[in-house]
Amino acid sequence: MILQNFVVFEGGDGSGTSTQIELLRRRFDSCRDRALPALFTTCEPTGGPIGAMIRRFLRGDLPLRPETAARLFAADRNEHLYGSGAVADRCGRGELAVSDRYVPSSLVYQGLDCGEELPALLNRDFPLPQLLLFFDLDPETALDRLEGRPYRDLYERLDFQVRVRERYRALLPAYASPGTRLEYLDASRPAEAVAEDVWRLLQELPIFGSRNT
Ligand code: TYD
Repeated sequence: MILQNFVVFEGGDGSGTSTQIELLRRRFDSCRDRALPALFTTCEPTGGPIGAMIRRFLRGDLPLRPETAARLFAADRNEHLYGSGAVADRCGRGELAVSDRYVPSSLVYQGLDCGEELPALLNRDFPLPQLLLFFDLDPETALDRLEGRPYRDLYERLDFQVRVRERYRALLPAYASPGTRLEYLDASRPAEAVAEDVWRLLQELPIFGSRNT
């Protein structure tokens, strides 16, 4: 099933998905005069209680079995999607929802951690986005970009990120369908250049066409 008006950004750690969401938000805010749809930007793990538990796991403060983590990510996603005022509600109301990470993150990261079967099962019934953007960046450059941060998350290691990129490349093509557009962006370019591509691709979504902007 495809969720209309739903867009997902994916990529390895440090590939710039959060920066791009922020640039998109600013661009929307600066275009108030145009008849743009309302923009809902969001992320996984969420800021909710399950997301908070996941963050503790990612920081190394909460030891969990990989299977437990896979279940938490899926539970967090269920709230993110179906909780009141969450993604499905917003999309249904004609807002454009853009999420920093979604199902592919679980298939890639938890797939590497606990095998493919469980994440595939846990995430089988979630709807697919209309547009899936993959921010492709070599893991060394990506991790260099995270250098200034005060902490390193569990998955922010070069050996793991090399495998993450490989898994994304292997898994993503299966998402392309008549209902889901899959695009790869070269995330090694300056953020503004990448943001131009994001903007152009978003404009091609039906939600923009129906507004004649
Ligand atoms: P990230 O977007 O990097 O957050 P931040 O910019 O705040 O560090 O996401 C946090 C980590 O969570 C990242 O390493 C990927 C991981 N993750 C999973 O392993 N599975 C998932 O299902 C999701 C959504 C994220």
